[in-house]
Amino acid sequence: MPSETDFDRAAAERIAGEMRANPRAVVGLSTGRTTARMHALVCEMYRAEPFDTSRITIFGVDEVTGVDRHYAGACYTMLKTEIIDALDIRPENFIMPPTRSDDSERECRDFEAAIEARGGVDIQVLGLGTNGHLGFNQPGTPFESTARISEMDAELEERIRRETSTPSEVHLGGITLGLRSIMHSRRILLAAKGAGKAEIVRRILEGPVTTDAPGSILQLHPACEFLLDTESAKLLSVI
Ligand code: GLP
Repeated sequence: MPSETDFDRAAAERIAGEMRANPRAVVGLSTGRTTARMHALVCEMYRAEPFDTSRITIFGVDEVTGVDRHYAGACYTMLKTEIIDALDIRPENFIMPPTRSDDSERECRDFEAAIEARGGVDIQVLGLGTNGHLGFNQPGTPFESTARISEMDAELEERIRRETSTPSEVHLGGITLGLRSIMHSRRILLAAKGAGKAEIVRRILEGPVTTDAPGSILQLHPACEFLLDTESAKLLSVI
């Protein structure tokens, strides 16, 4: 991908295209620096040429736990401000696990069940952690995992603690669809950009399929597209 705009546009076209083609599409999104701009472009496409979103379902692949849902860094709030409101997605069609709960196991089951009840995932957009994580599935996560409570990476946790003034005794974590759940998506779009992702992109695409780099499991998905910019692809042997 020559430019950042081309990258974001290509991703946005996949997402908007799925929604246009399938008015009942179930779309999984991810938050972070990689995906924010593509969400804005989907909104632009919708404004320019509106389509019916009344039966579209959107969910986030993961959510931060232990903070308020309305904290700016919570995936619920990020998705709501980046795309949900602008696309007129109905509140009942925006599926997110709660950030706080006294029964996390039940929340995980409910999250999976809500997606299943809508017929499963048509397209899942994923970012990639520099350690290879998908959602909050950190290295070591079993490939057969379903929705679960996990740890966030240290850098993200440090930022969230700082921004929310959360003391160290309060546990912060993440709720995430598991790797098996992700692999059940009919289509996957893995998006990675920037030189900081080059080494992990090489590992997940050219290295062995291993739980040490959760993203490597995507090599086994029959319909996973890897959307890479020039920088993140620069260590690949074949481009
Ligand atoms: C976080 C999120 C992931 C996201 C990843 C990449 O860990 N939990 O869902 O894919 O960050 O973020 P970025 O695109 O900012 O590098």
